[in-house]
Amino acid sequence: MKTRFECTANYDPSWINENKRGPNPLWLLEDLTKDMNLRKGMKILDMGCGKAITSIFLAREYGLQLWANDLWIDPTENLNRIKQAGVEDRVFPLKAEAHSLPYANEFFDAIISIDAYHYFGTSELYFSWYFQKLVKSGGQIGIVVPGVTDEINNEGDLPEKLKQLWSDDLYTFRTYQWWKNHWDKTKHVTIDLAGNIEDSKELWLKSNCDQELLAADEEDLLTFVKIIATKK
Ligand SMILES: C[S@@+](CC[C@H](N)C(=O)[O-])C[C@H]1O[C@@H](n2cnc3c(N)ncnc32)[C@H](O)[C@@H]1O
Repeated sequence: MKTRFECTANYDPSWINENKRGPNPLWLLEDLTKDMNLRKGMKILDMGCGKAITSIFLAREYGLQLWANDLWIDPTENLNRIKQAGVEDRVFPLKAEAHSLPYANEFFDAIISIDAYHYFGTSELYFSWYFQKLVKSGGQIGIVVPGVTDEINNEGDLPEKLKQLWSDDLYTFRTYQWWKNHWDKTKHVTIDLAGNIEDSKELWLKSNCDQELLAADEEDLLTFVKIIATKK
């Protein structure tokens, strides 16, 4: 049977499992990048790259140069993984916090971020004051974040079964309409695409994480949201 994720299928599932920090990031990445304009040699920021397997994937599959930026994972550990994958000439690991990134404005041709942007990007200022500045005019910014199909603003908005499991950090899960408006109103970008990833719940379940939360989500509130925008 033909798989939807033809490139990810070439990667060892146990390598992905060992190095993912949440739902399978290569599925989410492959779904995102099919809708982006990425060309060989481009300089890309992989923001919140975790164990850098998304950067390794992009270097191999698209011939891109990656700045693999993370906070919680040691960049030396990432460098070892990058070397083992044979892409140390194209993937550069760094440790930096989202509000104190060491890059020049407009350094990158594009930015991607998988399952990380919701940790630092929900404030009204972050996109405008920090993130969008890093990409050149005409460059794309694409993110995938865990989200919801209906806005959850307080406990009263939650279905009964999810109430007990809903921790404060999950209020960073927003709808794609919320994210679209969050970026659009800054006037720094035009939105190319905003939506839910097809079969999100199935992909999330198959990733073997958050199983209790997913099982309690009988109303299919949980999803993956994808937003792609172009800098003006
Ligand atoms: C759930 S993990 C996802 C990692 C990777 N993209 C993946 O899908 O496997 C979220 C990542 O976001 C990064 N992160 C969270 N807050 C951050 C911040 N304030 N600045 C930079 N990175 C941050 C963490 O270091 C973490 O590795």
